[in-house]
Amino acid sequence: MLFSGKALSVQMLDNGIAELNFDLQGESVNKFNRLTVSEFSHALDAIEAADGVKGVLLTSGKGVFIVGADITEFGGAFSAGAEGIADLMNKNNENINRLEDLPVPTVVAINGYALGGGFEVCLGCDFRVMGDQAKVGLPEVKLGLIPGWGGTVRLPRVVGVDVAAEWIAAGKEQRPDAALMAHAVDAVVTSDKLKEAALKLLGRAIDGELDYKSRREIKKSPIPLNDTEALMAFFTTKAFVGAQAGKNYPSPVAAVTSIEQGYKLGRDEALKIEQQQFIFCAQTDTAKSLVGLFLNDQAIGKVAKGWEKKADKKIERAAVLGAGIMGGGIAYQSAYKGTPIKMKDIDQKGIDLGLKEASKLLSRLVERGRMTVEKMGETLIRIEPTLSYDGFDNVDVVVEAVVENPKVKHAVLKEVESKVSEDTVIASNTSTISIDHLAEPLARPENFLGMHFFNPVHKMPLVEVIRGEKTSENAIARVVAYANKMGKKAIVVRDCPGFLVNRVLFPYFAGFSMLVRDGADFQEIDKVMERWGWPMGPAYLMDVVGIDTGVHAEKVMAEGFPDRMGKTFKAASDIMYEAERYGQKNGKGFYNYEEDKKGKPKKVATEESYELLKPHVAERREFDKDEIIERMMVPMATELARCLEEGIVDSPAEADMALIYGIGFPPFRGGIFAWLDNMGMKTFVEIADKYADLGELYKPTERMREMAANGETYYGDK
Ligand SMILES: NC(=O)c1ccc[n+]([C@@H]2O[C@H](COP(=O)([O-])OP(=O)(O)OC[C@H]3O[C@@H](n4cnc5c(N)ncnc54)[C@H](O)[C@@H]3O)[C@@H](O)[C@H]2O)c1
Repeated sequence: MLFSGKALSVQMLDNGIAELNFDLQGESVNKFNRLTVSEFSHALDAIEAADGVKGVLLTSGKGVFIVGADITEFGGAFSAGAEGIADLMNKNNENINRLEDLPVPTVVAINGYALGGGFEVCLGCDFRVMGDQAKVGLPEVKLGLIPGWGGTVRLPRVVGVDVAAEWIAAGKEQRPDAALMAHAVDAVVTSDKLKEAALKLLGRAIDGELDYKSRREIKKSPIPLNDTEALMAFFTTKAFVGAQAGKNYPSPVAAVTSIEQGYKLGRDEALKIEQQQFIFCAQTDTAKSLVGLFLNDQAIGKVAKGWEKKADKKIERAAVLGAGIMGGGIAYQSAYKGTPIKMKDIDQKGIDLGLKEASKLLSRLVERGRMTVEKMGETLIRIEPTLSYDGFDNVDVVVEAVVENPKVKHAVLKEVESKVSEDTVIASNTSTISIDHLAEPLARPENFLGMHFFNPVHKMPLVEVIRGEKTSENAIARVVAYANKMGKKAIVVRDCPGFLVNRVLFPYFAGFSMLVRDGADFQEIDKVMERWGWPMGPAYLMDVVGIDTGVHAEKVMAEGFPDRMGKTFKAASDIMYEAERYGQKNGKGFYNYEEDKKGKPKKVATEESYELLKPHVAERREFDKDEIIERMMVPMATELARCLEEGIVDSPAEADMALIYGIGFPPFRGGIFAWLDNMGMKTFVEIADKYADLGELYKPTERMREMAANGETYYGDK
């Protein structure tokens, strides 16, 4: 053994081959944490010092190769400023350069994921052999960063500028066929033959049959592009990448800039350029937010897994009541992820619609080559349409998704409770009605809770799991386990009108109504909020949700929180509702809707809405964009703070992720609490106080004022 550490080891095989094996103890994956980086350097010392090493083979002792840098270490390093960031980057850059400069050939056997730093170390080798189940890629832009260990230097020298820019700017994982076609790897073999193939290749390089030195030279030299080619390549790529990413995500353009500014240089100079761009990206709020979001995602995943472990049984069979928009979507998702589900409705038409929707979604997967016809058949068979309760005594969970009417729901819930076994958990997909209220007629309220999916179910990641006063821990655990199995992000919250997500969404809509009342143009509000990062502005969002649904929910919220959400004027949504403009569903709301070429609804502006609003709103005037943003966001942020203070949600991380996954809060802002932290509570309170005369929704809580006075943040020093 040449070197033996806690993250990797080096041992001599036959024929002078040293095998450098990454195998991080106590972890399920390999990653470049400080320990691995430091041991990597010691391993290289050992290889350089050893006699008789003729070639080096890099392997992994895990199911993955190396998944990348240890993101949990970023926070501390990034907050240490440019020097701290450079320090973090330099150590592994030195390692990879040393690997590339060894006086013997190097080959890597890529057995599983080789992402970010994991792929960058592969690019430092002379040859790359990839298993047929492995994936490679440089996903740093997803964290608002660029590759910082030579990815923007070596990849364009290996695969060409265009492909490298495309791979890095999109941050996608690449399958073996794509990697081979791009010449990012030299061979793809079945996993069981991987080491053998890599050793064979290394043997040929050792024997001089393969010229490893010339390959190395290419990676260390400028890229042979003439100025005109370069101008064309970088000009068009930058424009395209910039337009795709948008101004809120600067890192894809920074990655292309790094390639552009480094292409005429040798490796070491080009690496310096890369580092400048990396440091620039690492210091943006976007990177801070996206790194935070990644960590929050891991945290909520852990909480959800924790719940799953507490469940008394695995979810083998489910049922859904109501085969409408939501019930159909829930049945599809359950079946798609492998849990058989009964789909009951009182109306055959409903069932036909639900099944049609599921078939449509599955056909799309087949068309795109993402599912075989057999698999589609197997999935559809898992949905059992029914008009009766037969077999309901045999299911583990029932999700109720009938119409949003407390009387109907009471009747349906009581009925289904009498048809299921004693331990079956019943969950309601209600969007607004209190879980405690719905539980009233039930004999076993401990087995009842909320399971709030978002529309469209197959696309929206969030499931709010709502615990009522009497809900048992086991009921929560079972439903979270079911959500996990469905591939959803479950967040457990406490009961209140609107739960967490709708409770904060309606204050945001109230901000919108007040702006329109005071003379703002709803299209302008949409534009400003979309530029701020929302996938759609509030008027468009209401049209998509359904104005009738929105007006109904607004009433529930007003009853629940009359002081803050009670209506004092006729809102724009009421005006649309009275004119039967229900939004996308009937082709007219704030906007009119026409079908585009693909048959999808396309919004078009219409004077009709303005005419309807005119008698009820102030004369139209221009608002400053900051005022629009502040008047929209302050009510949402203060309401979310209240939810945290009241224990509706347990942590800032869960609250932030719920809004990102549930309603598309701009991810690059990291969530509302992350946004508040970035701005500073003192600034926020000053902004909110400017709007005090707009009512209670604009008043920060006492705790927020205290935080402002003490300079506290929600995430502490993370
Ligand atoms: N649509 C959304 O965006 C959305 C989002 C989240 C939650 N929700 C909630 O989901 C629930 C369902 O909403 P939807 O939009 O799917 O409604 P929908 O009108 O599309 O579907 C309701 C279905 O329930 C059926 N139904 C009525 N009474 C029944 C009974 N006694 N037994 C079995 N089936 C019965 C109807 O025939 C219909 O097919 C509501 O509580 C709603 O608030 C809706």
